[in-house]
Amino acid sequence: MAKPKVLVTRRVPQECLDLLKPHFEIEHYNKQTAIPRKLLLKSVKDKDGLLCLLTDKIDSELLAAAPRLKAVSTFSVGYDHIDVPACKARGVCVTNTPGVLTESTADFTWALLMAAARRVVEGDACMRGGKYKGWDPLMLLGTDVFGKTLGVIGFGRIGQAVAKRAAGFSMRVLYYDTRRAAPALESALNAKFVPLDDLLRESDYVSVHTVLDAGTRHLLDDRAFSLMKKSAYLINAARGPIVDEGALVRALKSDKIRGAGLDVYEREPKMAPGLASCKNAVLAPHLASATLETRMRMGVMAASGLIDGLVCKARSPYSVDA
Ligand code: GLV
Repeated sequence: MAKPKVLVTRRVPQECLDLLKPHFEIEHYNKQTAIPRKLLLKSVKDKDGLLCLLTDKIDSELLAAAPRLKAVSTFSVGYDHIDVPACKARGVCVTNTPGVLTESTADFTWALLMAAARRVVEGDACMRGGKYKGWDPLMLLGTDVFGKTLGVIGFGRIGQAVAKRAAGFSMRVLYYDTRRAAPALESALNAKFVPLDDLLRESDYVSVHTVLDAGTRHLLDDRAFSLMKKSAYLINAARGPIVDEGALVRALKSDKIRGAGLDVYEREPKMAPGLASCKNAVLAPHLASATLETRMRMGVMAASGLIDGLVCKARSPYSVDA
């Protein structure tokens, strides 16, 4: 019997391809950049499955171009690029990679927080630029992390893993989510559930870990920044559009907040005008899950999702899990 045909839309870890090979006839867009939309629409025409990335929009136009499609597996935990209801209506199974990137994403959130608070990037530039003239009591002063208040927006797996790390810095942890966590979890993480505005007013570091949906788009806007402390930092390693990036630039430039650490952008890979010149922002190119180990695990899980969806049929359709 002929093997099902699948499209892999980007270069991926070898472990992912090795898992797919015995089961599928693979067309691979083995490039470092996103597959052009036109080519994507053309390539899915005869495919049973799709291993895609968060840069590929899976919408009704794509579904219409892919009459044989039965499974979509995204190499990401986020699936805001996929129209899940449209997939559901077509009986197309959708899977993602939850769990395997929780710890590396939480680690990177802290890397951004520490780098922003302690001006690591400016220090690096100072050294490389030959500007260091010897120890100076007032040079590149940052902000304490130890003993401060961390506000976590979105208390799912990643938000909780970020909160857990705060214990090492003796921080007070506040969190906001649409649902309150179980009391046992709150006490294990020493985290207090508060309304969003209270979190914004009281936190020294506000870290975003919610999903992107209609309810969270521009959750952090001009109003939110005006509630935050002037000495506070915003950290975002979730999704760019949760933050109104224009409002963030205004807040950073007018010292409404002290700084930011960003891994994601509203119109990735572009940045809002003015952001690149904000010295008080540490900017990373969507690296939170970018470790050898995590990307390998994501590849294995994404491949397994496609195998489950097309060969074993172990997963029920639309089994995405953020
Ligand atoms: C990365 O942003 C992911 O959703 O996995």
